[in-house]
Amino acid sequence: MSSCESWPCAVLREADLSSRTTMRVGGRAQYLLEPSDPEELRAAWKFARDEGIDIRILGGGANLLPDDGLLPGAVIDTARMRRVFRPSSANKGDLFEAEHPRLETFDQEAQDTRLVAWAGASMPGLVRTAAELGWSGLEGLVGVPGSLGGGVAMNAGGRWGEMWDVVESVRLLQPDGELVDRERSACTPSYRNGALGDNIVVGAVLKLKAAPKPQIQECMRQFLTEKRAVQPVTEASSGCVWKNPDPELSDGRSAGRLIQDYGCKGLRQGGAQVSELHGNFIINRGGATAADVFALIEAVRARVADGCGILLQREVRVWMAPGRPEPAL
Ligand code: EPU
Repeated sequence: MSSCESWPCAVLREADLSSRTTMRVGGRAQYLLEPSDPEELRAAWKFARDEGIDIRILGGGANLLPDDGLLPGAVIDTARMRRVFRPSSANKGDLFEAEHPRLETFDQEAQDTRLVAWAGASMPGLVRTAAELGWSGLEGLVGVPGSLGGGVAMNAGGRWGEMWDVVESVRLLQPDGELVDRERSACTPSYRNGALGDNIVVGAVLKLKAAPKPQIQECMRQFLTEKRAVQPVTEASSGCVWKNPDPELSDGRSAGRLIQDYGCKGLRQGGAQVSELHGNFIINRGGATAADVFALIEAVRARVADGCGILLQREVRVWMAPGRPEPAL
């Protein structure tokens, strides 16, 4: 670590991570890097790699639990890479890099109903933008927090749709430091898994369909109403903690249902609690530490395993401090 004073992008030292996660837990990152475009991200990543520094990527922090304390190494935060634009004749050669018209200058009648988004674009912002343009395909993701990069990496979504339903291609930063574009046909996303391995999502091209705006808005309204009735959407959480198990093994019971059936709803550890409303959510009732949340994760998994033999698989990602074991996989 010889020359960390010369990062090729904005950097914060010992930066708080809790304010960058939707669960509001976690300690500090030794270096928090804030690239403002894909090239800066690549430069920051290469710089850290060449210095032998561990690298983690932070999107919207919606599906992430960083450990308490100081996390050594670099966290690359994509929050400044928020651009969303439409491909235009000016950038046919490279959809991601050229100059683009601002969204509000778009021709509403255009035939090309694609959006290009960089990794840090917010999911709620993207859903809103598509609806305002009268383009359908993202409304099933209404209420999903986080960023485009995280959403693509983990194939975010639920009953009404998934991220990869609309991905035409992704731009990836490969482990060798090169940027490549990968078409949808060359990808194999599955349930809550973008299947992109060690590649980092830098952006994506989304293919949407023109549809009447009132229809899109009505769908979004209905989905949100249903979601608010069953999920603790106003509380600090990381969304669903667990993936749903194979229905053949669980008699069709979702993770939330299993957690309810084996008496875990309301379980508390410090400031963290298993939601009374939806068993698959852990909420921060104020002052929770990552250790509180990890302890609850272990407790819930053990109870469900004791009850029915099913080992729940975590959906939420964790960043552990050195020497600390990961809570239940
Ligand atoms: N259920 C219970 N008790 C509970 C929770 C759920 O009995 O405490 C029952 C429900 O009544 C329903 C079934 O379990 O019959 C499924 O529940 P729900 O419809 O809430 O869906 P889910 O499978 O728990 C999935 C996604 C959510 C997404 C919703 C809606 C997963 C792990 N979760 O939840 O995604 O919002 O569908 O589309 O696939 C996330 O990934 O972070 C997330 C919140």
